[in-house]
Amino acid sequence: MILQLSRGLSRAAPVLSRGVHSGTHPASTAASKWRAERPLTSEEIYAREDKYGAHNYHPLPVALERGEGIHVWDVEGSRYYDFLSAYSAVNQGHCHPKIIAALKAQASKLTLTSRAFYNDVLGAYEEYITNLFGYDKVLPMNTGVEGGETACKLARKWAYNVKGVPKNKAKIIFAGKVPSCVFKKKKNNNIAVLEFVPFVTLPTLQDPNVAAFMVEPIQGEAGVVVPDQGYLTKIRELCTKYNVLWIADEVQTGLARTGRRLAVDHEEVRPDLVILGKALSGGVYPVSAVLCDDEIMLTIKPGEHGSTYGGNPVACQVAVAALQVLEEEKLAENAQKMGELLRAELRKLPKDIVTTVRGKGLLNAVVINETKDYDAWKVCLRLRDNGLLAKPTHGDIIRLAPPLVIKEHELRECVDIIQRTILSF
Ligand SMILES: Cc1ncc(COP(=O)(O)O)c(C=O)c1O
Repeated sequence: MILQLSRGLSRAAPVLSRGVHSGTHPASTAASKWRAERPLTSEEIYAREDKYGAHNYHPLPVALERGEGIHVWDVEGSRYYDFLSAYSAVNQGHCHPKIIAALKAQASKLTLTSRAFYNDVLGAYEEYITNLFGYDKVLPMNTGVEGGETACKLARKWAYNVKGVPKNKAKIIFAGKVPSCVFKKKKNNNIAVLEFVPFVTLPTLQDPNVAAFMVEPIQGEAGVVVPDQGYLTKIRELCTKYNVLWIADEVQTGLARTGRRLAVDHEEVRPDLVILGKALSGGVYPVSAVLCDDEIMLTIKPGEHGSTYGGNPVACQVAVAALQVLEEEKLAENAQKMGELLRAELRKLPKDIVTTVRGKGLLNAVVINETKDYDAWKVCLRLRDNGLLAKPTHGDIIRLAPPLVIKEHELRECVDIIQRTILSF
């Protein structure tokens, strides 16, 4: 393969050919190969990722290069409705102008100081987000996984320092599947013992060593499993009764996705710790956060839980803009309304193909009755061909979660695509 050199890089660089430069590539050569002269086709893009990247995902074959609002475009220029929203990170729509403006303005001023020094943005963000959600303090991190780790560490510290659990005996109980987070047991085992209960089974919390119960209010990755009304209220009551911290993982369900600011707001209950991520940046930057009150947050002392990028000025400006967009554009209300419409329409589909439609707000899923002719993957491929991107989860389930800025006429067009696709099998 011969690669000519490359957009935006040194024009004087020579033509490279494989075999000439074997072994370690000098940095300049490697850099010059990073893009071929002509834009690649979708097929070439799949092949390149397949060859050079780890196979830790199984993407739907579509190669995207641009996004705006509820739409994305592939490298051949075809437009699609995005019904995944980057796993609910893009609640505010792709490249929301207000969030991008915040990113650009801060990126050309000050990007990273580390937490070794103060900066003029972090405190403003902390004040804004704690007031919005009604907690004393926030601990800023980058990814959802880090948010989960942080919440567990806080719960463990609280158990030992406040509740009085004996050293190394603290337990954290999780509902359902733990979403990829956390939990490599450290060598010295100085981490809480982990236990699991199936989702919607009420946990047994009498054991005085239980520090916390962690649950995602609607199980997103597990296929959008919605608990009965009253489940969260019972969790709140049990945790209060047994002096156990309730950790709500709202990384995917939070920030207007389910039709309320937080999914727990559907039952008007307040967890002791809330984990946020994904849409906290509207999909432009990794930003996550843990919110809780002083009794819990102040158990972590200086030097005990750091993050080089956590709370950096760009992240803080982006997060404030992303939260403001959710509020100013009333995206929770829109998600609630559009979600009801979407489910009502999807329930008209033939039950022998779509056996279940479930969800809250715009976090929804349909269960496909698999046959030799079709399954969820084939349905998603055909949806793609008809201009709508969705992804199967757990074999027979398709999650349907567009950006929350979707308007009624657009949603109806999407319903039409989904109906046509399903009926074409
Ligand atoms: C509920 C929940 N928590 C945590 C995470 C992890 O977030 P991240 O991928 O940003 O680390 C995810 C990711 O999908 C999630 O859905």
